[in-house]
Amino acid sequence: MQLCQQRTYSRAAFAPARARAGRVARRCLVVKADAATTTKRPLRVMIAGAPAAGKGTQCEKIVEKFNLVHISVGDLLREQVQQGTPAGKKAKDFMDQGVLVPDEVVVEMVKSRLAGDDVQQRGWLLDGYPRSASQAEAIEAEGIRPDIFLLIDVPAELLVERVVGRRMDPQTGAIYHLKYKPPPAEIMDRLVQRSDDTEEKCKTRLETHFKNVDSVIGYYRDCLCEIEGDHSMEAVASAISAALDQAYAKIGDPLEDFCASNPEQPECLVYDD
Ligand code: AP5
Repeated sequence: MQLCQQRTYSRAAFAPARARAGRVARRCLVVKADAATTTKRPLRVMIAGAPAAGKGTQCEKIVEKFNLVHISVGDLLREQVQQGTPAGKKAKDFMDQGVLVPDEVVVEMVKSRLAGDDVQQRGWLLDGYPRSASQAEAIEAEGIRPDIFLLIDVPAELLVERVVGRRMDPQTGAIYHLKYKPPPAEIMDRLVQRSDDTEEKCKTRLETHFKNVDSVIGYYRDCLCEIEGDHSMEAVASAISAALDQAYAKIGDPLEDFCASNPEQPECLVYDD
């Protein structure tokens, strides 16, 4: 068991029994590590919501605070379309219509991104996946589950306005809204609108979302956290931040968990100097 090597302790020295032969173990203590030395694994978060519910906007803020790897399936697909890859060519028509891209394109893409080293180290924030029961099944089968499933709820009548007013800065990737987050005047001319951000396509995207969302939620009831998304971006961010703090607090420290049930193990002994 190597976990002890990842921790440093300010008070009692800590070493395997063999290395400290001759000294007397006082008693087994589980020493609390501070945030910098914790062996807790990072968070795993799914974020869902209707088109323009504010997933991308909130993901930016979550990454700032929690340093998770943001995996946006919509962005991954748009990259493939832009690069003209076989996957992108397959995805394009479906995205233009506002319906789900087939699993054969999406599932492997997500699984391989989740296996990345950065994701393993920093934790993940999966945005826009799963969007159907079959997509949920596909990662359940791999044992991939979130600590928390955030669902941003926004009344349908607000969503169309958010979609048609959205603009993106192609130079920085920043997302604006003509009314709710007005862009600086000097960049106005270079802003672009997503091809699926029309009122008509938004309606199909909304139908697709509402047709599938209940079946997806069914997989994550135990960690579902519904967030009211019809407030200011800052208010939504603060509700999400509190929910993520709670989810992180629930993650066990593997060494503490181990020592609680195995106090006599060398890794759990604390010695007087
Ligand atoms: P994707 O890119 O994921 O689109 P989406 O789910 O429709 O979500 P959006 O990106 O439109 O919105 P958002 O929730 O991120 O909102 P944002 O923060 O930008 O998917 C696109 C397509 O790819 C799909 O239609 C499908 O074809 C395909 N696809 C994706 N995932 C797939 C999957 N798993 N399987 C199969 N196919 C898949 O905010 C929107 C606007 O509102 C912005 O202008 C923002 O400034 C503003 N705003 C945000 N929050 C607030 C607020 N609180 N108050 C006022 N305005 C706000």
